[in-house]
Amino acid sequence: MERYVLSLDEGTTSARAIIFDRESNVMGMGQYEFPQHYPKPGWVEHDPEEIWDAQFRAIKTAIENAKIEPTQIAAIGVTNQRETTIVWDRNGKPLYNAIVWQCRRTAEMVEEIKREYGDVIKEKTGLVPDAYFSASKLKWLLDNVPGLREKAERGEVLFGTVDTFLIYRLTGEHVTDYSNASRTMLFNIRKLDWDEELLELFDIPEEVLPEIRESSEVYGYTKKELLGAEIPVSGDAGDQQAALFGQAGFETGMVKATYGTGSFILVNTGKTVRYSDNLLTTIAWGLDGKVTYALEGSVFVTGAAVQWLRDGIKIIKHAAETEELAEKLESNEGVYFVPAFVGLGAPYWDQFARGLIIGITRGTGREHLARATLEAIAYLTRDVIEEMEKLVGIKELRVDGGATKNDFLMQFQADILNRRVVRPVVKETTALGAAYLAGLAVDYWESLEEIKELWKAERVFEPRMDEETRERLYNGWKEAVKRAMGWAKV
Ligand code: G3P
Repeated sequence: MERYVLSLDEGTTSARAIIFDRESNVMGMGQYEFPQHYPKPGWVEHDPEEIWDAQFRAIKTAIENAKIEPTQIAAIGVTNQRETTIVWDRNGKPLYNAIVWQCRRTAEMVEEIKREYGDVIKEKTGLVPDAYFSASKLKWLLDNVPGLREKAERGEVLFGTVDTFLIYRLTGEHVTDYSNASRTMLFNIRKLDWDEELLELFDIPEEVLPEIRESSEVYGYTKKELLGAEIPVSGDAGDQQAALFGQAGFETGMVKATYGTGSFILVNTGKTVRYSDNLLTTIAWGLDGKVTYALEGSVFVTGAAVQWLRDGIKIIKHAAETEELAEKLESNEGVYFVPAFVGLGAPYWDQFARGLIIGITRGTGREHLARATLEAIAYLTRDVIEEMEKLVGIKELRVDGGATKNDFLMQFQADILNRRVVRPVVKETTALGAAYLAGLAVDYWESLEEIKELWKAERVFEPRMDEETRERLYNGWKEAVKRAMGWAKV
């Protein structure tokens, strides 16, 4: 009987389930969106029951589409939107909505803590203190949900990121992996354990914390009543780290960019913790008794800028049109678009920056805006990669995510980086990474070498722009960014 690996990819707007075979072909897939809740401006919540419902339906659909029996699933891997914070009781019942990574409700709390403890937090966790991470969200829940802190102190409350919640529902085990733990801002990335001083600082009772495990090991087995089979759940990693794994980015200096609503660029830094002023230090995965570190640049708005062209100012009907429009021009003709809709993330970290379009003349049309948007995505990626290069040598960029279909963008990315951009055959890199982690734990795949062999390039974009043009364009971008920064304070 042929066997497969099931990967659960629980993202910010939808839950997906994908079944892979040994050659990493996609055999079946299910995907369901779930509602976003915005109780106040700047607040973002998910209902954990709605996440679970979408995820479980996706699993069933994937199994149906693949035309297999649950007993043919050798292992399950979980990957997830990171940082999003959930609390639930020992019956698996959520005690509040999930506070989503994008939620800004604790921004002020973090600003205060940052003043005194910013350096300590960076040193211990590798993170630039921000409301983005779980610590302040969990503190907010314990301080604001009536009775929660007392319950927590009695050991009746479990905390976790979405991986932990899903694994608890699937198996009854309360665990997370190193990569997800490293996004909580409560985890010491050198000591590889929850950090007592930070737990005290955020007033978090230890009883609520999950056990930290490797990213590839059997955490437990699915409860029989769920799928009629007891399947090992044996892979767990945050979605961006899983994508690096799915790109077979196993060696120091290997870098991937995932182009989604925003872009997340990660470079493997091996066994060494490297600190950068403008990037996050994070754990890529824990495997075979060792932890691999990464540097991450999180860019908040990239694909969302294309969505804005479509749904905001309505100058295109489909995202794909940007490619054709951009190609109508020989160059950007001096038009730049800095899509700083929510400020700027890495490497600028300016929450007061705002979007800006500059260089408009009477001849500017929608093709200029389309081109400037795609170029911006590539410039923002270069901004991050330049920071990475100060610390680690980089050869090529492996890419995944929706926008990688856009050949103009991929070529421009290669040109502006002056590096090869490599697009893989299997585009479901995040889900594939979690599948590999799960499969390795049960010997479905044997080694990283075997996985490296499975990874195949679909197309390589070689840089072909001359240096003078590249630097002139990039300087223009830097000037535009300068003008966008701090605008909300003016
Ligand atoms: O850090 C947030 C990131 O993990 C979210 O990823 O793919 O759900 O937008 P995604």
